[in-house]
Amino acid sequence: MKLGCLNLTLLLISVHCLNYSWSENSQQQKVSALTVLEQTEENIEKKKEEVTVEDDLDPEDIEVFYPTNEWQIIKQGQAIPAGLHVRLNLETGKNEAKLPDDGDGKSGLKYWKQGSRHGMVNTDSESFTAEELKRALKLMKQEGNTETEEGHQEQVRKTFRPIKELMENFKAMNVVMETDMEVIDKLVSKFNSTSVTLEDKVAALHDLEYYVHQVDNAQHLTSTGGLQLVINALNATEPHIQEHAAFVLGSALSGNPKVQIEAIEAGALQKLLILLATDQPVAIKKKALFAVSSMLRHFPFAQQQFLKLGGLQVLGQLFQAKGMESLRIRVMTLLYDMVMEKKLIQEAQDNTVQHQEKCRQYDVVNLLPPMLEQDWCMLVPKLLTSTEHDTREKVLRTMNLMISSCRNEYRAMQGLISLLNTLRSEYEELAAEEQREGEQDGYFQGLLNSVNDIIKKLG
Ligand SMILES: *[C@@H]1O[C@H](CO)[C@@H](O)[C@H](O)[C@H]1NC(C)=O
Ligand SMILES: *[C@@H]1O[C@H](CO)[C@@H](O)[C@H](O)[C@H]1NC(C)=O
Repeated sequence: MKLGCLNLTLLLISVHCLNYSWSENSQQQKVSALTVLEQTEENIEKKKEEVTVEDDLDPEDIEVFYPTNEWQIIKQGQAIPAGLHVRLNLETGKNEAKLPDDGDGKSGLKYWKQGSRHGMVNTDSESFTAEELKRALKLMKQEGNTETEEGHQEQVRKTFRPIKELMENFKAMNVVMETDMEVIDKLVSKFNSTSVTLEDKVAALHDLEYYVHQVDNAQHLTSTGGLQLVINALNATEPHIQEHAAFVLGSALSGNPKVQIEAIEAGALQKLLILLATDQPVAIKKKALFAVSSMLRHFPFAQQQFLKLGGLQVLGQLFQAKGMESLRIRVMTLLYDMVMEKKLIQEAQDNTVQHQEKCRQYDVVNLLPPMLEQDWCMLVPKLLTSTEHDTREKVLRTMNLMISSCRNEYRAMQGLISLLNTLRSEYEELAAEEQREGEQDGYFQGLLNSVNDIIKKLG
């Protein structure tokens, strides 16, 4: 829990910079990580001195930072020459700088760690872009998740005080620090406000989507009523709102059972299926399909509701609709994943009570019979004409999964056998090439095996 607090603080620093860069600058413009200092008049003075410092090297005037190849602490308000590598030491809350290493090849923002000390360094210049900060944020989240349990106590003890100092340090710099939850609350209230523009609302959803990947954040959104607002927005009159609402919902649902339960109880699945069934721009359908997938995965109750609500017919129509070709693979993959999910659960060797209960839940989800009834035997192989290996791989996988029920349809399909033979020749060549390069069970060999399997079963 304490470590969570630490991570939160790491995030805050970046979050502030992000907000700062978005509100004060255009997204493209670079923002110095140290510009927070410039907000006070005193620092504007310092900035001026920094410019003149080269002509006027008087040690009495200002304490000049003399950079070396080693990291050195930049004292409060100390001017530094441009072009140095600057990093924020999150343990001490101090900024440090050194001469840039030439020829290190890579540039950009990096998360660094030396023993228990860690922070961010920009190896590019003294400035960070919003994108770089976003990337750093992700790295830090990963870093937080991989901490070992034994290290925790020690880590917490070591970091607690410095973090407190860091907070004070930032307070002194007039930086408002917010927790993720506070940011989420603000975004929700911005979105819920009647006095903001459409662009602002879309921007609020856009930012919200970023936060709800975190399980705790999505649950906070749910418990504060924000998720309900997002679900309500699925049938807003503005397409951009609908699209972004579906995106937020999909990300919040992803791998988050608590949110899945709340969302289905709030009627999200019906609304999403309506978006998929009615005339909507492809951008909306794409995000709605993403949200439906997130809702259904590993949630047999939702899968059962999906069948009851006619979800399979909706997907069938979407699959065949003009202009929606780009969504076909996603539709097929969703169905494949659901069929496989049940199959894997049923085949697992597990006698625990939990597993028995899981099996019981999946027993009532019968996706394959209606799929056969609704012509999926004929629909899936149509995608095999794709020129992309990745697409073909998914189609072959799905065909293989359905083959025992679809054998007669496959056999009767015009041109399917000859297409399979063509693919076989193509993959024989590619697999041979792979083997010459020393790869025995490579990607193309796998595809070749799939094709051969199907041909054999049809024979
Ligand atoms: C949204 O605004 C309405 C009306 O002002 C308010 O009653 C409601 O509590 C707000 N919802 C959230 C989640 O902030
Ligand atoms: C959205 O649907 C709900 C019922 O599901 C309805 O009460 C609301 O008025 C609809 N909103 C719009 C903008 O159509």
